Amino acid sequence: MVFIKSKILLPTLLNRQKAMMHLLSISDLTKEELLEIIDLAVKLKSERYRNVVTDYLKNKSLAMIFELPSTRTRVSFEVAMADLGGHALCLTPEDLQLSRGEPIKDTARTLSRYVHAVMLRVKDHATIEEFASYSSIPVINGLSNLEHPCQIIADLVTVQEYKGKLDSVNITWVGDGNNVCNSLILASAILGIDLVISCPQGYEPDEFVVKKAYDMGAKLVFESNPQKAVEDADTIYTDVWISMGMESERDERLKNFSDYQVNEKLISFARDDVIVLHCLPAHRGEEITDDVIEGTSSVVFEQAENRLHAQKAILLKMIGYEYE
Ligand code: CP
Ligand code: NVA
Repeated sequence: MVFIKSKILLPTLLNRQKAMMHLLSISDLTKEELLEIIDLAVKLKSERYRNVVTDYLKNKSLAMIFELPSTRTRVSFEVAMADLGGHALCLTPEDLQLSRGEPIKDTARTLSRYVHAVMLRVKDHATIEEFASYSSIPVINGLSNLEHPCQIIADLVTVQEYKGKLDSVNITWVGDGNNVCNSLILASAILGIDLVISCPQGYEPDEFVVKKAYDMGAKLVFESNPQKAVEDADTIYTDVWISMGMESERDERLKNFSDYQVNEKLISFARDDVIVLHCLPAHRGEEITDDVIEGTSSVVFEQAENRLHAQKAILLKMIGYEYE
């Protein structure tokens, strides 16, 4: 195996503007920053495929606190730090004095003295807001009930790979107006993507997120009929009907979402070259069928892989060394 020392990224890092502080919402990024992260993720993906050694985060540490389970977010952040020469610590509230009542604000200020960034997956978005307000190091949202910004960055990398562009793509969201949908709405507003949202009545995205997106110039169309909603779609995106923490609503949700399954029949109403996204984990037979996930339109595992490249780009942007 040949290892090559990377030279590719240096110009990107040299051009880096003042580092952003936190990534709690995708709307914390400007259009320029978001496109820069996507571009960096694509370059880092290519470097990994060519076995290029990248130690841009040598001597840097990331703490990760998970109030909820995770496969992709946890492993991709941990591997991203290792690949970049840094170190990640995976923590649960039970591992920490948080479980014995130590306040968030004390935990945030203490961790700020040890590590260079903290990634949190929280049940309540207010927790990460509070943590960030006391943290003197960058805080990254690894999913909250309100948003999943890191996911959407990987999704945009995937759309760019398959569609060759991010402007003038038509994305249709089918299903629950949840945390992932909220971040997609705000990302679409930042980039000017045409987004159609198809949700059952009562499960639309948060009103204030939609208002914020319109204020940012979003081009959103709400179409409750999923077959009409996917007519112009070159990308269909769905997610679970029952997000983490909503398990008690399971029976009611299964009933109310039954017309919103992404199946072969639904994708037959979209363009021939439509791609299907799912942030995973998927519940086959509920929001998506097994034949669609395993079928030729599905890019869900490329999308999952892109979490790794996107996390690296996010980390470099937030805690990469200043070369100026
Ligand atoms: N998509 C996503 O965030 O997956 P995990 O819950 O496995 O991290
Ligand atoms: N909407 C889902 C996303 C999981 C990655 C949830 O919050 O459970």
